[in-house]
Amino acid sequence: MKLSDQPLFTASQIDARIGELADEISKDLAGRDVVLLVVLKGALHTGSDLMRKLSIPITLDFVRAKSYAGTESSGVVDFLLLPRVDLRDKHVVVVEDILDSGRTARVIADYVRSQDAASQCFLTLFNKSENRQASVTAEYVGFEISGHFIVGYGMDYDEQFRQLPDVYALEE
Ligand code: IMP
Ligand code: MG
Repeated sequence: MKLSDQPLFTASQIDARIGELADEISKDLAGRDVVLLVVLKGALHTGSDLMRKLSIPITLDFVRAKSYAGTESSGVVDFLLLPRVDLRDKHVVVVEDILDSGRTARVIADYVRSQDAASQCFLTLFNKSENRQASVTAEYVGFEISGHFIVGYGMDYDEQFRQLPDVYALEE
């Protein structure tokens, strides 16, 4: 396994796109009681960059769910951490690194609904919509991708490469 020579997405491209999404969310959710629910570990940087670009107040919490081993979706989703903030009557923005099969997002969406949130929406920095198996859509998408397993900017291959500022494709 090696990384692509050039980044597929640079930190500055990502930064600009997150700025656009932050503007949309700030407009769409102005005046609402918003909880930003960042999905660890992969969405760490996305959540951190996003919240600093929002012009509306938010409450921050985290959820940790895991569905992956290597590059293949296991299809099994475990919660390793649940939010402590009360989601009842809140407008919840779930922040993901990648929506792939959508199974992780589906389980998180069901959890948020079970907590009687006023509304929920998904932001994903990367969207592999071709691979979708569970019924879930992201209202806010950074970039559509297909045909690559990507790492960097928080995303990993077996816990490696999260520290890279840019996003690279993993190559055989
Ligand atoms: P899903 O449940 O199949 O949608 O899986 C979503 C999760 O799988 C993401 O939050 C990532 O942690 C991981 N994942 C999916 N595709 C990639 C990739 O290309 N690179 C790194 N992680 C990925
Ligand atoms: Mg992962």
